[in-house]
Amino acid sequence: MEIGRRLLLGLALGLTLTPPLAAALDPFGFFAGIASAVYERLKSRLKECCTEDWIPLDVTGLKANLRKNLFGQHIAIDVIPKAIEGFLSNSEPEKSLTLSIHGWTGTGKNFVSKIIAESLYKEGMDSKYVHLFVASLHFPNAQHTSQYKQQLQQWIHGNVSACERSMFIFDEMDKMHPDVIDSIKPFLDYYSHLNRVSYRKAIFIFLSNAGGVKINEVVLNYWKRGMKREDIRWNDLQDHLALEVYNNKNTGFWHASLIDMNLIDYFIPFLPLEHRHVVLCAKAAMQSRHFKDVEQVAIKVAEEMMYFPKDEKIFSIRGCKQVATKVDYWTTADKET
Ligand SMILES: *[C@@H]1O[C@H](CO)[C@@H](O)[C@H](O)[C@H]1NC(C)=O
Repeated sequence: MEIGRRLLLGLALGLTLTPPLAAALDPFGFFAGIASAVYERLKSRLKECCTEDWIPLDVTGLKANLRKNLFGQHIAIDVIPKAIEGFLSNSEPEKSLTLSIHGWTGTGKNFVSKIIAESLYKEGMDSKYVHLFVASLHFPNAQHTSQYKQQLQQWIHGNVSACERSMFIFDEMDKMHPDVIDSIKPFLDYYSHLNRVSYRKAIFIFLSNAGGVKINEVVLNYWKRGMKREDIRWNDLQDHLALEVYNNKNTGFWHASLIDMNLIDYFIPFLPLEHRHVVLCAKAAMQSRHFKDVEQVAIKVAEEMMYFPKDEKIFSIRGCKQVATKVDYWTTADKET
């Protein structure tokens, strides 16, 4: 009590008077006050807080990182940083940001959400302000839907109350029960406040395979006509994508309701990966393990993957998935011979 009061007094004196004078009037309180202020600073340095130090929102880093590490996705590389930059530069956004990312297996959807998390939050995916929900893992049982709904709403509410710059990633969106998705809707909408909490600075990312087949079709058609995939524009795919996702009976239900209400800000297509992209993925995996001679193994790895369609064999069936495992296999095999 006594110490606490002197501490406060010391702090107040230190702030209002010139330091030497404050120190002379109440040396103990003054120095204790400084110590406590230093302690607070240190604590926020050491333990993650909802501050700029921990949430640097580094869009420049995001751009660079995507350009360097994401292969074969020129649309995503262009659109994602712009979408996020626009959102972050608005100090009074009308609603939370929602990105819906679509594409075939292994094209980099999870990888990109990780890069986004790492650029915006110092702790990346480990940040307590970044939340990943995987449908088959977190909401596996249709019977428990009402419990999931309640829990999810509480979590979003609780976490955004603690930090308005929270990010929520929903993986396997196409496997989520429509009711669970319904329960997220209010947080995506244009309400200014909901139970006194504003959700307008939060980011929601939805990942799904929905529309992947359609995207593949469009890219294949480009290839067949001898056109470069890099010339495919966002608009060429976006309408296809919205329509496909909207009408597909398996995935249409959830998307339809989100699209109807205009709650999704961006549909981002991920294109199927070709042999040359798999080579790049393998090289990157090896470089991150500090291997020097990457060329040969990368080609071996890419040759081991399977490709579709049956006749043309252009796109990797599993994208770059398991490439890292194959790299491990070949690099250990090399060492032993
Ligand atoms: C925040 O979300 C996590 C799940 O990612 C949950 O475990 C936690 O209880 C939530 N926090 C609050 C305060 O609701």
